[in-house]
Amino acid sequence: MRRKIVAGNWKMHKNAEETEDFLNELIAALPDDIEAEVIVAPPFVNLASAADHVEFTPITVAAQNMHQAESGAFTGEISAAMLKSIGVNTVILGHSERRAYFNETDAALANKVDTALKHDMTVIFCFGEELKDRQNGQHFNVVENQLRDGLFHIDDKDWAQIVLAYEPVWAIGTGETATPDQAQEMHEFIRNTLRSRYPQVAEDVSILYGGSVKPDNAREIFSKPDVDGGLIGGAALKVADFVAIAEAI
Ligand code: G3P
Repeated sequence: MRRKIVAGNWKMHKNAEETEDFLNELIAALPDDIEAEVIVAPPFVNLASAADHVEFTPITVAAQNMHQAESGAFTGEISAAMLKSIGVNTVILGHSERRAYFNETDAALANKVDTALKHDMTVIFCFGEELKDRQNGQHFNVVENQLRDGLFHIDDKDWAQIVLAYEPVWAIGTGETATPDQAQEMHEFIRNTLRSRYPQVAEDVSILYGGSVKPDNAREIFSKPDVDGGLIGGAALKVADFVAIAEAI
């Protein structure tokens, strides 16, 4: 059964007090009958308090990254076990900003995926082409390679813990959203690529779209047959916008 998910990637925004205020507002504003699963991904320093804050609510807290090692001399890094110890069981991996600014390769991400699966975590796996790839007609090849090199080593059963997030880099933070038809075209390609390697599970994998999703475009994007929700950046930082997007599922 495909999960309908709206996840907010806060990136490097909100301190401890702002996180608490936001979550209080979000808990109060979310309709009881909302269909979407709602996930928020605050910065590391706010994860423990956020996880406590939402414990008895339908909101899930996710980390924005984690290291592949169990422990060790990796200054500044966070392990899966540390996240699990504070009640965080979901992690975003492979965001384009980490691929670009921190040189995260598909091979390194494959190792992070393995560690997250080993700790029974849910992975929101990000991937997507750059503008030059699309302009050169290489966007399908780029996306297929990211999927194969990052994920296609896992077993069928592991896909129950994987959520895909297609985020065309040229749409992230730019206001230049993929059109609903562009999103559906790539999501359908992703589903077909999954089907070719994992025929038993492809139908049940949730594929989120990310890249300038806003309250005024969410409903049309989410209405597409292979779009199962969104990974939201800027609009996730305002309660009213984030709730409006979650209600668009
Ligand atoms: O991870 C979600 C993020 O990259 C999308 O950002 O601001 O375009 O919604 P934004």
